[in-house]
Amino acid sequence: MTPAQRVAWLRNEIARHNEAYFVNDAPSLPDADYDSLVRELRELETAHPELADEQSVTRLVGAPVSTVFSPVVHEEPMLSLDNVFDARELEQWSARVAKSLGREASTIAFAVEPKIDGLALSITYVDGALTRAATRGDGRVGEDVTDNVRTIRNVPPTLGGVARGRIEVRGEVFLARSDFLEMNAQQVALGAKEFANPRNAAAGSLRQKDPAATAKRPLSFLAYQLVDLDATLAYTSYTDTIYQLATWGFLTAGESTLETGASAMIARSDWFEAHRHDLRYDIDGVVIKVDDLAQRIQLGFTSRAPRWAIARKFPPEERTTRLLSIEISIGRTGRATPYAVLEPVVVAGSTVSMATLHNQDQVALKDVRPGDLVIVRKAGDVIPEVVSAVPVPGKRRAKAWTFPLNCPECGQPLVRRGAESDTYCVNPTCPAQQLEQIAHFASRSALDIEGLGEQRVAQLLASGLISDVADLFTLRVEDLSVLEGFGELSATSLVRAIDAAKGAPLSRVLVALGVRHVGPVAARVLARHFRTYAALESAPLEELEALDGVGPIIAQAVYQYCREDENRDRMARLAAVRFTLNEPGEDVTVEATLAGKAVVVTGAVPGYTRDEAEAAIIARGGTSPGSVSKKTFCVVVGEAPGASKLTKAEEMGIPQVSAEKFESLLAKGVVPA
Ligand code: IVH
Repeated sequence: MTPAQRVAWLRNEIARHNEAYFVNDAPSLPDADYDSLVRELRELETAHPELADEQSVTRLVGAPVSTVFSPVVHEEPMLSLDNVFDARELEQWSARVAKSLGREASTIAFAVEPKIDGLALSITYVDGALTRAATRGDGRVGEDVTDNVRTIRNVPPTLGGVARGRIEVRGEVFLARSDFLEMNAQQVALGAKEFANPRNAAAGSLRQKDPAATAKRPLSFLAYQLVDLDATLAYTSYTDTIYQLATWGFLTAGESTLETGASAMIARSDWFEAHRHDLRYDIDGVVIKVDDLAQRIQLGFTSRAPRWAIARKFPPEERTTRLLSIEISIGRTGRATPYAVLEPVVVAGSTVSMATLHNQDQVALKDVRPGDLVIVRKAGDVIPEVVSAVPVPGKRRAKAWTFPLNCPECGQPLVRRGAESDTYCVNPTCPAQQLEQIAHFASRSALDIEGLGEQRVAQLLASGLISDVADLFTLRVEDLSVLEGFGELSATSLVRAIDAAKGAPLSRVLVALGVRHVGPVAARVLARHFRTYAALESAPLEELEALDGVGPIIAQAVYQYCREDENRDRMARLAAVRFTLNEPGEDVTVEATLAGKAVVVTGAVPGYTRDEAEAAIIARGGTSPGSVSKKTFCVVVGEAPGASKLTKAEEMGIPQVSAEKFESLLAKGVVPA
C-alpha cells in the first residue's frame, strides 16, 4: 500500500468509527485502537504534507450533527485535546510548553484532573439565568439540548452573585458507575436492551427527544471550563475559575490538584492511573492544564486543540474476578470453544460475565481452574479474554480442568484432528451447529436477510419448520403466521426477504455457507475463477490449489465440502429453488473512474455489503467517507438511508445517486442522469 492509499484508508476507517461513536452512540472499536488510527494518520500527514487535507478527520473534532435537535453554533469553538499515552510523552509535552514559555518546567503550575468518559456539554447563562445548552457536535456546531439539560439535577438553573452578561460553562455529562449499574438493572427489569457502558448510556439519555425521558435518567454534570464571553469576570488562574464554578453550585472534580513542575504533575497523573477504579465515574485518562491564564494566552491553540492542555490516555483496563466455571460452546463449524463463566465485573465500562479461553491448549497453558481469581481484559476487539490466574499463596485450587470428551449439545464424541489446536463436534445434525449455521447464513456479513436474527432462527428450528438453510426457501406465509410473535405482515416480509437472498452472487453464497477457512477474499477468488457453483463443485483439487490466494488448506476444505453428501444435497435444493449460484462477470482490473472523488454511501445497496460498496469505490481510486461535506462528489442512496446524510446532501446541493445506478457510477465515474 502506498502512503496515499493508506491515508485514504485511514480517513475512511476513522470517519466510519466516528459515525458509529457519535451518531449511533455505538462504538465500533475500543478507544485505544481508535486513537492509534488517528495517530498513524496524523503522522502520515506530517511526513507527507502533499497528502494533508483541510477536511481530513485529523482537523475536525468529533461528531457530525444530527437532525433531531436544532443546530447551535458555538460562539467559541469547542476544541478537542491532543493525546499522549505514557509518562515519557507527558514529559516531552511539558518540555515543549516550558520552551514556548521560556521558563523552567519546574516552575510551571499544572492542574491535573480526571478525564471523564462522558460527553462534552456547553451551558450558556445570561445575567445568571440558564438560557441554552448544547452538545459539542463537530466542535463548531452542536445540538440544542436545553430542555433536556434543565432536567439534570446538579446543573444550577441560576447563578448567584457576580454573574452578569453571558457566561458559558463547559463540562462533561456522565453517569456515575453506581447509577449506570442501577439503570441497567432497570432496563433488564423492563425487558429492554442494556447499555454497553456508562458513556453510551449517558449519550443516549441526553439525546432523548422527550425531556421527560431524560429526567428519568440519573445524569450528572461536572464543570471544567468557564468561558467569560462578555469579559465581566477578571480571573488570572484556572483554579480561581473552578472555585467560582463550585461556588455557583457546580460539581467539580474533587480529586483534581494543582502541581508545580513536571515531575509532580507526572506523579499525580500516575496516581490517577493507579486509582482509576476507585473513582465514582469512569475515566479514560487524565487532563493536564496550564493553570496561569496569561501563560495560556502565550501558548495559544492549534486548529483542533489548545497547546496549554493535554490528555494522557490510559491503556486498556484489566480487572480481577473469580472464575466460576469453564463451559464449552459449539460454533457453526462445530468448533468447540471453551469459555470462562465469571463473577460479573465491569471492564472498560461494561459488565463482563463470560470470556473466551480460545482452545484446549490455551486453557492448559494459562492453567486457569474453576474457583481461581483471574485477570480479565478486553482484547483487540471488544471481546473479553482471560489473561491469567492470580496465584493466592496457601489457597488450595481445584483439579486442573480437562476438555470434555463429548459435545455438550448433542452428546456425540468431540474430535481433535492431527496438529490442529481446535476440537470439533463432527455431528452434522448437532442442534447447536444448525442454529449457528443458519444464523450465519442470514447474518449481515453473509446474505443479510432482514428479520432473520439468531432468536428467530432458534424459533424456526424449535418449531420443526427448518433444520437446514435450504429449508428457509420452502417456508410459506401460512406456516409462519401461526407462530408466536408473527403476524400476516411480518410473515410476508420475512418470506420476501428470504426470497431476495436467492439473487446473491456466488462469492457471497460461499461465505454464507460457512465453508471452513473460506472468508470473503478466498470466496471472491473462487467465484471469479469458476463463475458457477457447478464448475467449482467438479473442480479437481489441483485446480483449486493452483489459484492465487487459495492455498492447500482452503483448497482441501472446499474440495471436501463439495463432496460431502449433505452439502451436495443442500446445493441441489438451493439450485432447485432457483438460487443464482453464479458470479456476475466483472473486470479483474478496474479503471480509476472515481480518482480523487469522495462518494458517501447511505443505506443498503442491494448486492453489496457495506464493506463491499466502500471497497468498490476505493478500488476505483475514490474515497468513501462516513459523512457528507462540501467536498462530497455524490451520495449513493440505498435502502433505509440515514436522514442526516440526506438532509445534509440536500442542503449542500450534493448530487444523489439511487442504489440501482451504483454500478453505472462505478463504471463511468459520473453522476448518472
Ligand atoms: S478540557 C479545550 N477537561 O475530553 C479543552 N476535557 O478529548 C476542553 N474531557 O472534549 C476540554 N474530562 O469532552 C477537559 N477534565 C476535563 C475533561 C475533558 C473529559 C473530555 C471533553 C473533551 C474531550 C477531549
